[in-house]
Amino acid sequence: QANLLTIDQLESDDALDLIHEAQAFKAGKQVQLLKPAYAINMFFENSTRTKTSFQMAEKKLGMQVLDFNSATSSVSKGESLYDTLKTVESIGVNLAVIRHPETDYYRQLTQNNNLNIGLINAGDGSGQHPSQCLLDMMTILEQFHCFHDLKVLINGDIAHSRVARSNAEMLYRLGAQVYFSGPKDWFDPALEKYGRYGDFDELLPQMDVINLLRVQHERISGSANTQFDVQAYRQQYGLTKQRAKQMKPEAIILHPAPVNRGVEIDDELVESPQSRIFTQMKNGVYVRMAIISRLLRFQNLL
Ligand code: CP
Repeated sequence: QANLLTIDQLESDDALDLIHEAQAFKAGKQVQLLKPAYAINMFFENSTRTKTSFQMAEKKLGMQVLDFNSATSSVSKGESLYDTLKTVESIGVNLAVIRHPETDYYRQLTQNNNLNIGLINAGDGSGQHPSQCLLDMMTILEQFHCFHDLKVLINGDIAHSRVARSNAEMLYRLGAQVYFSGPKDWFDPALEKYGRYGDFDELLPQMDVINLLRVQHERISGSANTQFDVQAYRQQYGLTKQRAKQMKPEAIILHPAPVNRGVEIDDELVESPQSRIFTQMKNGVYVRMAIISRLLRFQNLL
């Protein structure tokens, strides 16, 4: 496989293979590069987890990692993303990990098939976040060992969420029962093909996995953002301590983070026994090692 840009590129079995490879890395599997390999992480939108997690995965695989700062790059002089990638390809980079605010930014890169560099989408606007999806699937699989008939609720700012889109599709294909809740005007009806929208309080007691989403203020426009009422949101759509008492004892909480503590989830629940939020981050490194390994094998570098 040359690239990983969207989750629909992966058959369910491919996704499970990557998760099993990630589990092997977590259990201590080591690999040896056949020759030096170079990675660059090009983030045109802010990130803590995804960027550092890819850096850690690249270093654990023995890759050399080049610096890239979008603000001081020649993109600020108007150079296109395509020409930027042709440049790093020309200097010998094998793998570029890209996060970009524009949904589907990668289509302009792949339409001519003229790039000879591995590409991984680390998040595009409100589009897709395939590595986050796979680390979420790994975290669920670690807990429940199977997806069949597992009830998963995706709650919150769904319309702006690339995590919601990627996870809903993959969970559906893996056999889970997907549900959505949160503000109705932040729901995306295009997701109804994967599961039904319902009331958070009615759905919560039946769920095995509660996948919370961050309120993405940077993608909410104008007055809706300035008029956003934290307490009203928390009371109606947040996982409060009181509401969490309705969860099944074996249910788990996921959140891609960063977390707005006290908005979509109460502070005390973030590190509670049912939370897997920091396990997700840990698993992210191993999932990214698995994704990168697959791309390096395609280039005969591993
Ligand atoms: N979950 C996630 O994508 O976090 P960052 O924005 O910090 O990378």
